[in-house]
Formats: sequence, structure tokens, C-alpha cells
Amino acid sequence: MTNSGSNLAEKKAITRRKFLSGAWWAATGLLVVETTGGLVASLWPRLKAGGFGSKVRVASVEEAKAMPVGTVAYFPEQRFYLSRVESGFLALYRRCTHLGCVLPWRADDPSEDNLAGNGRFNCPCHGGIFDRYGVVHAGPPPRPLDLFPISIDGGEVIVDTGTVVSRSSFDESQVTKI
Ligand code: FES
Repeated sequence: MTNSGSNLAEKKAITRRKFLSGAWWAATGLLVVETTGGLVASLWPRLKAGGFGSKVRVASVEEAKAMPVGTVAYFPEQRFYLSRVESGFLALYRRCTHLGCVLPWRADDPSEDNLAGNGRFNCPCHGGIFDRYGVVHAGPPPRPLDLFPISIDGGEVIVDTGTVVSRSSFDESQVTKI
């Protein structure tokens, strides 16, 4: 994605109505996934309580639990993706671990994990490819995508974008179970 395209995406207004609409499409997408195995649902965030560098409220616990496995929801202004994996959630920093390019999610590209048939992160700079766990599958990135800690507070899912967690590989302890 170009910088102008990225900026445009980041300027999208996100409202509760859009979230609910997104949730409906996510549910519809799940049906498609179940029937074709080819698509990944997307889920628009409900809340924008805090920008990058702060603690961000992303959804209620109930809404998060309703996200189908394999869903990747983008929070552009807060610079992360919320990835629904089998056992819970990961908040993936969108910054490529090679030289820091912004990573776009490519929902139609072949999947590199076993959570859905399609969808992965493709770095536009040098061809780095990452799966829904943030694990590298191709290109020069030296390690998985960095994470932001996820916590629960008052029935809301919180992502702390002020704390970057680096890792050398994926393990289950990194997944937040909700
Ligand atoms: S910056 Fe992403 S592969 Fe080089």
C-alpha cells in the first residue's frame, strides 16, 4: 500500500454504527469462510478511546468473543491489528520488523497459517510475509511482528500501544485468552 493509501485508510471515521455494520459483515464473512474456505472476515473497531502510544479500548469482551477465528481487525490510528487466533487474541504492531515499513493486511492473498484459507501481511518494501500470529514466512524480516499487551478492564478489551513487546518466535503464552 502506498503512503497516501495508508493515510487515507487512517482517516476513516469509525463509529459505533460502522462497528455494528462491520460485525454483521464479519458474521456474513464467517459464513463465506465456512462455505468456501476462501475468505476472511473483517471487523471494524467500535471505540477510539486513545491514540497510538496510549491504552486503547477496542471492544467489549462480548464483542471480542464474537469475532470469528481468523479475523484480523485493523486499528489504523492506533497502528495495530487485532488478530483472532484459535486460543485468543494478539495485538500486532503494524511495523515491519525488517526496516519498519507499514504492513498492509492482504485478505485475498493465500494464508500462511491454518486459521483460514486466505489472508496474510505482505510488506511492500522488501517482500516480507507474515501470518496471523505475526510469524515470518518469507523475506528479510529477522523476527515476528512486535506485540502490544492486551488486558481486560471493566468488561472492555484494552490494548496498550505504549508498550512494545519484541519476540524471537511465537509461543502460546503470547496469546491473550478472553
Ligand atoms: S521493511 Fe518489510 S521487508 Fe523490508
